[in-house]
Amino acid sequence: MLKLPKGFVLGGATAAYQCEGATQADGKGKVLWDDYLKEQGRFSPDPACDFYHRYPEDLVLCKQFGIKAIRVSIAWSRIFPEGHGRIEPRGVAFYHRLFDECAELGIEPYVTLHHFDSPDATYRTGDWLNPENIDYFVDFAAFCFKEYGSQVKKWITINEPVSVSTQQYITGTFPPQEHFQFLKALQCEHNFNLAHARVVNLFKKMGCEGEIGIVHALQTVYPASDDVKDRHAADLQDALEIRFYLDGTLEGKYSDTTLQLVNEILEKNGGGELVITDSDRDELDRAADQLDFVGVNYYFSKFVKDFEGKSEFTHNGTGTKGTSVSRLQGIGEVIRKEGIPTTDWDWPIYPQGIYDMLMRITKEYPKTRKIYVTENGLGHKDKFEGKDQLIDDQPRIDYIEQHLEKIAEAIQDGANVQGYFVWSLQDMFSWTNGYNKRYGLFYVDFETQERYPKKSAYWFKELSHAIDS
Ligand code: BG6
Repeated sequence: MLKLPKGFVLGGATAAYQCEGATQADGKGKVLWDDYLKEQGRFSPDPACDFYHRYPEDLVLCKQFGIKAIRVSIAWSRIFPEGHGRIEPRGVAFYHRLFDECAELGIEPYVTLHHFDSPDATYRTGDWLNPENIDYFVDFAAFCFKEYGSQVKKWITINEPVSVSTQQYITGTFPPQEHFQFLKALQCEHNFNLAHARVVNLFKKMGCEGEIGIVHALQTVYPASDDVKDRHAADLQDALEIRFYLDGTLEGKYSDTTLQLVNEILEKNGGGELVITDSDRDELDRAADQLDFVGVNYYFSKFVKDFEGKSEFTHNGTGTKGTSVSRLQGIGEVIRKEGIPTTDWDWPIYPQGIYDMLMRITKEYPKTRKIYVTENGLGHKDKFEGKDQLIDDQPRIDYIEQHLEKIAEAIQDGANVQGYFVWSLQDMFSWTNGYNKRYGLFYVDFETQERYPKKSAYWFKELSHAIDS
């Protein structure tokens, strides 16, 4: 069995929009995805796995399977349907019920304030590129701290800001589907760092109890070869997706090297300058000193080689191996590395990447107090063969086990990792892939909404017992 420290937190992760369903219920305001998904017609966010109504059942499953913590997010537009101003009491009441139920069952909620679901109203006024929307987000956070502060002691400001900034403005896989707008993407990155910092500083100023952190998507980037050009390509890709965020949130300052790399990306892609004010710098600096933890979402690593042509990006959203392409002008090309297995969605399975990332944070960002692995898991086309047949998701167990082994190794080597949340607790939809990319420990029949523990759920339960004993 794996050597994980006693007290190590084992949890399951979810996100409001992906699991709650009930997108129009009880006065909820629209989010940026509602019209977009309707126009696309690929899949509907309703009823997802109907967590809005079935959370008591899911929490009981957590308890039965030894899962003592759950990541959930609060849908901003359930509380403020227009993003600011009017408050919807039915939305406020829903999260009180959810957190009460968690307390009842002894499951600790780790609560994210933004998980990809900006209210439609703020989205339409420029989303994170509009500083006024940052003010509204800070107000929403203040409301949540006051309202739920007695029930929630673990807060996460923002989930994976990089997924939003790059998918909105570079790869075009999130609405508004813009392509290769590097200045917008990087300005959005800075604005996210700032929004996060302002919320952390507010939390501390309000004297709230508990801990606050941020969750980053940290898919480790490696050069495709030792060639100096490939190494530089990897540095640029890393600066865009990782370093700018880690510097901004964990160090509280962009290093000169980071700024040089970012400026090189801009110069090679139409130029422009980021707006970063002295007051922004001050917020970042203070927040990094007060931050309690960083969440690491790790799924795969990227191998990058030098690329000088025009940007080109194709998303594999169907689970057909070998269909993804990622070439960014003046930055690099993501290649398939011989000998490294990939998922059906072309994500290289590379557990060493999580070890390297945890050690990088530990060594290069020494202000970091604690780390949680806040997402890790395998997207897979699980087969349901009848109510009495156990769903055999051995590849998921192997994936989780291999990554936990590397996490245990990092802990031994000095990384202060306090817990692990599998993505996902139960099956739900994937933003850009729909319902056939399943991650859950619990299989959801989306027709009947019945839940079935997969083999991985039983494996997870044993692990939890082993940690406790
Ligand atoms: C993270 C997100 O990006 O990874 C989750 O926080 C997401 O919301 C998960 O679902 C898996 O990604 P995907 O694209 O396979 O759904």
